[in-house]
Amino acid sequence: MTSILLRGRTLSFERWPQTIDDHSAWRYEEDGGVLISDGRIVVAGAYADVEKQAGEAVKKIDHRPHLLLPGFIDAHAHFPQMQVIASYGAELLDWLNTYTFPEEKKFANAQHGRRISRLFLDEMVRHGTTTVVAYCSAHRASAEAFFAESHDRNMLNIAGKVMMDRNAPEGVLDTPQSGYDDTKALIKEWHGKGRQLYAITPRFAITSSPEQMEMAGALRREHPDLHMQTHLSENHGEIAFTQQLYPWLRDYTDVYEHYGLLGKKSLFGHCIHLSEREADALSNSGSVAVFCPTSNLFLGSGLFDYQRYRKRDKALRIAAATDVGGGTNYSMLRTMDEGYKVIALNGEKLNPFQSFWQITRGNAEALSAVERIGTLNEGTDADVVVLDANATPAMRLRMETVETLAQELFLLLTLGDDRAVREVYVAGRAAKTDMIAG
Ligand code: GUN
Ligand code: ZN
Repeated sequence: MTSILLRGRTLSFERWPQTIDDHSAWRYEEDGGVLISDGRIVVAGAYADVEKQAGEAVKKIDHRPHLLLPGFIDAHAHFPQMQVIASYGAELLDWLNTYTFPEEKKFANAQHGRRISRLFLDEMVRHGTTTVVAYCSAHRASAEAFFAESHDRNMLNIAGKVMMDRNAPEGVLDTPQSGYDDTKALIKEWHGKGRQLYAITPRFAITSSPEQMEMAGALRREHPDLHMQTHLSENHGEIAFTQQLYPWLRDYTDVYEHYGLLGKKSLFGHCIHLSEREADALSNSGSVAVFCPTSNLFLGSGLFDYQRYRKRDKALRIAAATDVGGGTNYSMLRTMDEGYKVIALNGEKLNPFQSFWQITRGNAEALSAVERIGTLNEGTDADVVVLDANATPAMRLRMETVETLAQELFLLLTLGDDRAVREVYVAGRAAKTDMIAG
């Protein structure tokens, strides 16, 4: 049995922190320990107590004075879009047609998919993200490549090949039948293999015909325990086109509702311009709205009203995500910094505990995966990020005036990026060090 004992300042959330003083919402140990055995957390708590349980054989790794948190979770990203990031001057539909679909054609080539999968998961780890919910391209080979790479690294990732059978060029299209068959084959091969999880992934209503949406609904009925991911209400042009394509349905959300795609494991990227009816439909079904601030700003899509959705009578479940490559950064720290600004433009403020809750436990809850990831709780998978708030000269200088944990966390969110991520443990293995060492 391989055991390691990490030492540092440990922080893990028990629930949503109402305020900056809501101390019972988190567990913080100034001198904390995390005992890991065979990829799982055996116990976390005060170092002196954890050390007593650890025994002699354990390997001790001292990360003091850094912070140890659960690894970050990114609830929506497109791995084939690494070379789409920083494509200038378009909003959603033009951006897809001009840059994204042509780029995704390249993933017909399995070797390209393998190369980009490797580089994508390198970026995830480098930035402290230990779980990502990823869209692959329409090609089965792209999902094969992604899962193979993820499995080799023993990461808990959730992914699916996009199903898309219209309104995009040849070369990125499947058909209702091939989309269904490829999805079935991928589920059989990868779902539940090691830590891999499959998400049924109709790209969005515009690129799926009614026949394909029927097939997506059938897949969901046949595999009710799987996640489903798609896009919803991102941009006004997209909403208008969707209503043209599905004129007999009440609104955009109704497209997914009609085909049986709402539910507790359904993840809807963006959800910026929802009506009250649509928000009710999502909340009544337990569906999740995914906040993608850097992407929403970059594409000029709009301001996701996080607090309106959270505070309404029928609260929405919310996750946060990079949405690379509409999103402009791989870092969940950078993402929540932009998220803070979006929420501020809506007249509210997210305190730093709430932001860190969101990218750890909050996202794990949104993925219905909190028994496995998102906390430092006993028995969960040992995905841990080590953060250094003194990582750069500017951070060090600002840290001279920082007095509280809340201030330190806010500094990490405002100035932090991959340089603040000192180490990342994936199922108990030091993945960032291993990656750099090659
Ligand atoms: N809607 C459908 N596909 C995409 C995509 O790849 N990125 C974004 N941001 N929105 C989408
Ligand atoms: Zn997306």
